[in-house]
Amino acid sequence: MYPDLKGKSVVITGASSGLGRAMAVRFGREGAKVAVNYYQNEEDGKKVAQEVQQAGGEAIWLQGDVSKEQDVKALIAKTAEAFGSIDIMINNAGIENEVPSEKLSLDDWNKVIDTNLTGMFLGCREAISYMLDHGIKGNVINMSSVHEVIPWPHFVHYAASKGGVNMLTQTLALEYAPKGIRVNSIGPGAIDTPINAEKFSDPKAKADVESLIPMGYIGKPEEIAAAAAWLASSESSYVTGITLFADGGMTKYPGFQAGRG
Ligand code: NAI
Repeated sequence: MYPDLKGKSVVITGASSGLGRAMAVRFGREGAKVAVNYYQNEEDGKKVAQEVQQAGGEAIWLQGDVSKEQDVKALIAKTAEAFGSIDIMINNAGIENEVPSEKLSLDDWNKVIDTNLTGMFLGCREAISYMLDHGIKGNVINMSSVHEVIPWPHFVHYAASKGGVNMLTQTLALEYAPKGIRVNSIGPGAIDTPINAEKFSDPKAKADVESLIPMGYIGKPEEIAAAAAWLASSESSYVTGITLFADGGMTKYPGFQAGRG
């Protein structure tokens, strides 16, 4: 637990499921005030907000499409109005779909880039702008992926978006370090969330993924939430511009394990 997170105002995009939900509940346990952004399903957003309250935090739930500039502006404005501040911005919303690259439509490409990269840029810009205007030495966390460094056939739009998040994070970290605003990414490996539900429902596909993880198991959303809590806390006060890979070793070339290669 991180006592300095108590009372902090946190915005989490795409928080009605998966990693966003786990982070919202974790920040609730820390006693933070959490704005739960949901995209389409208000019931899910409201449910997560209630879980945050049960965990000990304050919560509101706000609709918004992260790829729309006006929605992101409204998300920041409504959170600031409700909680009086924006201390931590977590750009988490993301999507993927599997298509061989020669068949990938421009629509699919644009949808993934608009959500995963442009959406994170808008969230960073609006939150940082608010922090600068109010003299807040805040924290921004972008949900990247191991695919910011591992190429991923059939998911070229997703891998390109996460590669972009890597440079987005490093550049903004450098730009705003003098103002005391830290910008970091988290790079999860394979985590058990709805984005992977279909893939992991097939035991063979699940075993194939597990074989790529040196630690041998698919991660739990709470293990990513723990990384987010640390990055948002003052315990990581000298850390900016990194991607914290929480991936069971997936980025460490598992094919070379046990002397192979
Ligand atoms: P998820 O599918 O449960 O969460 C994604 C969330 O984003 C959903 O709540 C969805 O409603 C929301 N969303 C989609 N489009 C949106 C939009 N335009 N505006 C606002 N919200 C929108 O899946 P998960 O795993 O929780 O994904 C969260 C993030 O973690 C994503 O950025 C994903 O790329 C990343 N990630 C997940 C990994 C995993 O294995 N689960 C691995 C690496 C990265």
